[in-house]
Amino acid sequence: MDSLLIEGGVPLRGEVDISGAKNAVLPIMAAALLTEETCVIRNVPNLSDVRFMGRILASLGAEVKIEEGTVQLRAARIHGRGDYELIRKMRGSVCILGPLLARLGVAEVSLPGGCVIGSRPIDLHLKGMEALGGVAEIKGGYVVVRVGELVGNQIFLGGRVGPTVLGTANVMMAAVLARGRTVIESAACEPEVVDLATFLSSMGAKISGAGSPTIEIDGVPALGGTTHDVIPDRIEAATFAIAAAATRGEIEIRGLRCEHIGAVLDKLKEAGVPFQRGEGSLRVNGADAFRPVDVTTQPFAGFPTDVQAQMMALMTLTDGISVITERIFESRFMHVSELARLGAEIAIEGGATAIIKGGRPLSGAPVMASDLRASAALVIAGLVADGRTDVKRIYHLDRGYERIDEKLGKLGGRVSRLRET
Ligand code: EPZ
Repeated sequence: MDSLLIEGGVPLRGEVDISGAKNAVLPIMAAALLTEETCVIRNVPNLSDVRFMGRILASLGAEVKIEEGTVQLRAARIHGRGDYELIRKMRGSVCILGPLLARLGVAEVSLPGGCVIGSRPIDLHLKGMEALGGVAEIKGGYVVVRVGELVGNQIFLGGRVGPTVLGTANVMMAAVLARGRTVIESAACEPEVVDLATFLSSMGAKISGAGSPTIEIDGVPALGGTTHDVIPDRIEAATFAIAAAATRGEIEIRGLRCEHIGAVLDKLKEAGVPFQRGEGSLRVNGADAFRPVDVTTQPFAGFPTDVQAQMMALMTLTDGISVITERIFESRFMHVSELARLGAEIAIEGGATAIIKGGRPLSGAPVMASDLRASAALVIAGLVADGRTDVKRIYHLDRGYERIDEKLGKLGGRVSRLRET
């Protein structure tokens, strides 16, 4: 398993281009199952999750061609039984459920296993499928959903912690071919949901309200092929902004949409991080000292849970006490124990709240990545820590950050990848 070797203490300087959004491209790739015509998806990041989703779609019978930055998909002749071992390995694969049901009237997906950040249930996904007329059963580790005809309905998709992003995606992708109107209440408002709605509309779907808590979909008899450019990855952009601030560098982040990271910019401002917003760009400088801030993760447009770990790494550098409350996932603090190896002082209270006592200098050490965003937090801390940090198991990182070692290297970061045979 590869590791990243990081020599800390070097301010990041220069320009970095943001790649396409992983969490937009995965459901959009699944949406290509809704038509037998060819779909071309551009500005696709070179990530292991994208290649993995390609394998899943190919296992369903779709023709998949992935070249640098572009995915071409044609689901002319497909079946509805996803490969058990493939699907259970990636949560994002659950979003083949809606399109398979809409296209074939049957979908068999393995229950997406839990992961280090929580149990990851799909009860709301199934609630949506059943509201549209589907009948779901669990058989041999598979969820099997069948339907004679999908019929539009009024569906409340709010769960115990609020909306579901991929649940909203699944219901949208089933409803676009249902008979009549579907209204999703308490829909997720994330930009990735809006990008999926844009993709579906370009295929001929009739969708309004995407980006708001109420989405209306009028079913159509069939959808056609299309070409689509994926939105920039707001989580990658936020990660680089925090890395620039933490290393007290000065970087220009290009190709992002600042309105997609408003809550993150608000907290960076409160922490005393100097930045200038441009048209599709963001210049971030370091600061001699940061102020401690309190953060609570929320559904969009609140502070994103996918930036919680990275913000925690920054808060270890402040002179004071910061409080981070994770409201979206039940155990998304795997990075805390690893940050402690670098000298951070963080206490977890009641499972959902981390109290960060900043100010103690970080020193390099071997650390273990556990999930995608925790890995990013360890990289940020390693860039600041005195000496060398060895971040192991960075396959987690490669799932969601395109060539992060090269991008950091171009910014002057002393980062090298150790390939372990
Ligand atoms: C998407 O996951 C993202 N993944 C996650 O990003 C992101 O953290 C998450 O949305 C929240 O924003 C992709 O888009 C591929 P949810 P998703 O359904 O859709 C509960 C990353 O690092 N819930 O919005 O799976 C669930 O347990 C990843 O890029 C139910 O209870 O998340 C969680 O507590 C990590 N029942 C909350 O809702 C359901 O049926 C939000 O989950 C579905 C979800």
